[in-house]
Amino acid sequence: MSTGTPLFDTVIRNGTVATAADVFRSDVGIRGGRIVALGEGLGGGAREIDASGMYVLPGGIDAHCHLDQPKAEGLAAAGSVMADDFLSGSRSAIFGGTTTIVPFAVQHRGQSVVAAVEDYHRRAAGKAYCDYAFHLIVSDPSEKVLREELPQLITSGYTSVKVYMTYEAMRISDRQILDVLDVTREHGALAMIHAENFECISWLTEKLEAAGKTAPRYHATSRPQAVEREATHRAIALSEVVSARLLIVHVSGGEAITEIRRGRERGVPIFAETCPQYLFLSEEDLDQPGFHGAKCVCSPPPRDKGNQEVVWRGIEDGLFDIFSSDHAPYRFDENGKLRHGPDAPFRKVANGIPGLETRAPLLFSEGFMAGRIDLCRFVALNSANSAKLYGMYPRKGTIAVGADADIAIWDPQRQVTIRNEMLHHNVDFTPYEGRTLQGWPVTVMVRGELVCQDGELLGRPGYGEFIARRSSARDIQDRSAEAAWI
Ligand code: URP
Ligand code: ZN
Ligand code: ZN
Repeated sequence: MSTGTPLFDTVIRNGTVATAADVFRSDVGIRGGRIVALGEGLGGGAREIDASGMYVLPGGIDAHCHLDQPKAEGLAAAGSVMADDFLSGSRSAIFGGTTTIVPFAVQHRGQSVVAAVEDYHRRAAGKAYCDYAFHLIVSDPSEKVLREELPQLITSGYTSVKVYMTYEAMRISDRQILDVLDVTREHGALAMIHAENFECISWLTEKLEAAGKTAPRYHATSRPQAVEREATHRAIALSEVVSARLLIVHVSGGEAITEIRRGRERGVPIFAETCPQYLFLSEEDLDQPGFHGAKCVCSPPPRDKGNQEVVWRGIEDGLFDIFSSDHAPYRFDENGKLRHGPDAPFRKVANGIPGLETRAPLLFSEGFMAGRIDLCRFVALNSANSAKLYGMYPRKGTIAVGADADIAIWDPQRQVTIRNEMLHHNVDFTPYEGRTLQGWPVTVMVRGELVCQDGELLGRPGYGEFIARRSSARDIQDRSAEAAWI
């Protein structure tokens, strides 16, 4: 090792490095926030990190999380407030090895999307510990939104747009979905869709309420798989009509998966995301005494154990491109899940569960360490595919010369039993309480700065930067090409 001026700001030595394509032994040299050298026996660093026995992986990207999101009047659970803002949410993310988050700037009806984005930038300013980008949510695709705002925002780096087929206050019609898809196709953005059939859900909800079946477990009864299957099929058909790329978010079970496979067999460029709740929770978790089942109310709901296996198969065989938390942080108190009281009908319970910090460790332990997926597939699901699909690759999502030094060093020997008190979010529960995981990210860097190490917070709020994203449309035209590329 050199005794003069260090060549690097940081050198990570002796670790096993992995990308979505390769696993190799290498030191990692970092300067100016970027990876500048890979190889054995690199020169000296001002900071030296020994990663013997560890995996040196790209920092995670959680490409679906909700933070400090204002709620529309008329949403179920109106008045509930999100427990995490950009400060607590990003803090929680980094402790789970995630170095980039992509939450949503929401347009409510009658609002401008540009104004929603400006508001969301104010909410993020000075708070984030890690880098962040925004997806757009469009609930009111007026002519101005379609012709002026979306094209302008897509060009400015907001290259993904989510639309809803359900939730009274958010859903748009099939005709409006076609309009949005037409704009995303034309301007190279990626459309994301929440696929559940609104009419079926409201019809079933009314029937259940009339029969006095209002406990949290009936949330699952009101949204059976047929509701998700039908909407998934319809969403794929709409994207076929427009020839637009479409990503189905938070896929919960086998019936929607079958529709995605069928769409792909027809050559439709459909991408798919799932979340930990569909691997580790089931409808039984909604049936806990004392209203505690409300903690696991999310949409689509967790299914049965058989469907967990089907979702695992999609993780293993490449069906899923993206693995996100869908972190939607509501406390189990009068501002969150209990906003309408401990006997509230399921219709009024805030939808969503926390998961920013536990997402990657759950997949590392139960996917990679348990032998279901290899390390490259873990990296693909944890970060590389999100970087590619959402226009951040290769700056994010890989370990390569020139990439941002967003790195999580994982100790495969570290056993951690999840307790809410050890997590860094602002939610007062985790659905994964008591679950023991094998492996944990012990050192995390964002653009070359240590943000946490051995449980200690080293980063600072406001260090995280906004990432303006480019279009991935030219890289990923159709999914068969993308599958080969991955
Ligand atoms: O229940 C859920 N998924 N809440 C978050 C909002 C959404 O639809 O993603
Ligand atoms: Zn959704
Ligand atoms: Zn969501």
